[in-house]
Amino acid sequence: MNLVFPKRLRLARLPTPIQPLRRIAQNLDCNIWVKRDDLTGLASSGNKVRKLEFILARARAAGAQVLITCGGVQSNHCRATAILGARLGFKVHLLLRGAEPKRAEGNLLLSRVAGATIRYFAPDHYRDQLDSIFTETAADYRERGLKPWLIPTGGSDGVGVWGYLAAAKEIAAQQEEQGVTFDHLITATGSGGTQAGLTLGAHLYLPRAQVTGIAVCDDAAYFQRKVREDLHAWGQLYGQPCAPDALDVRVLDHYIGAGYGKAGRAVFACIEQLARTEGLVLDPVYTGKAFHGMLAEIAANRLGGNILFIHTGGIYGMLAQAEEYDQHATPSG
Ligand SMILES: Cc1ncc(COP(=O)(O)O)c(C=O)c1O
Repeated sequence: MNLVFPKRLRLARLPTPIQPLRRIAQNLDCNIWVKRDDLTGLASSGNKVRKLEFILARARAAGAQVLITCGGVQSNHCRATAILGARLGFKVHLLLRGAEPKRAEGNLLLSRVAGATIRYFAPDHYRDQLDSIFTETAADYRERGLKPWLIPTGGSDGVGVWGYLAAAKEIAAQQEEQGVTFDHLITATGSGGTQAGLTLGAHLYLPRAQVTGIAVCDDAAYFQRKVREDLHAWGQLYGQPCAPDALDVRVLDHYIGAGYGKAGRAVFACIEQLARTEGLVLDPVYTGKAFHGMLAEIAANRLGGNILFIHTGGIYGMLAQAEEYDQHATPSG
């Protein structure tokens, strides 16, 4: 497939480096590399900026003035949208699931600093009424003469797919430069868009690599459906032949632990291990769970060869879990 990429705004620092994790892999029967998408920016860092390069290009071309998006109180996607929206001159309106905390920390703090309008919704109401909350918020801006642009959870839709499709192409070029061929790409999966882009991207540019998503919230069946829906939407929107049902969408859903955003001792221990042996900081919501899951799969001999872990960012989520970390911390001497 000879793909012509649509217009994108250059918002991320690309290409992000690929580095070997030699100390972590020392006693393991495999090689591990990390794709540093935690370095796509500073306040805008992580995986979301790759999707937003394409999403915001469309919003701008359509003459939109207000970005409306949604997520949890510590959403990385909402923070990245708040920061990039400010950078590009959009107003940003965030619909957040959960109660307003007494003190804003981590991602929420940055979204506030960047001037986003923030509304909080009780989780049940958010779950049942998200579509109408979006519709009403958008109508409100239209009445005020402003054109809204709606961005779904995590920027995961047919447009957002381009972000990690482009990342797969970037990885293919780096493979050549670094003289390595990856057998596996591992990512945390939270709303499906990263895995959707990588799955199609690997199919096109990295034929030997199998993509595995480590789910951090919903089950494998949900994400298999969601990834295929996003790919189907991508094919429809851009007139591309795409057969999502023929693609292998591999999701592991047994590393979620106590629930979304809740990391136990094993995940915090894995975060410490990475920080202490490689100087690489993961987060308890996404990358810590995914890395922990990846190590468990390696230990069980279900994963091997040349493995590329996609570090999708999330450091501000780590900073928001100081209390949770204290409950599990191992003294550092
Ligand atoms: C740091 C981080 N990693 C991974 C993910 C998962 O990406 P996706 O939503 O595309 O599945 C997210 C967002 O959900 C995230 O914020």
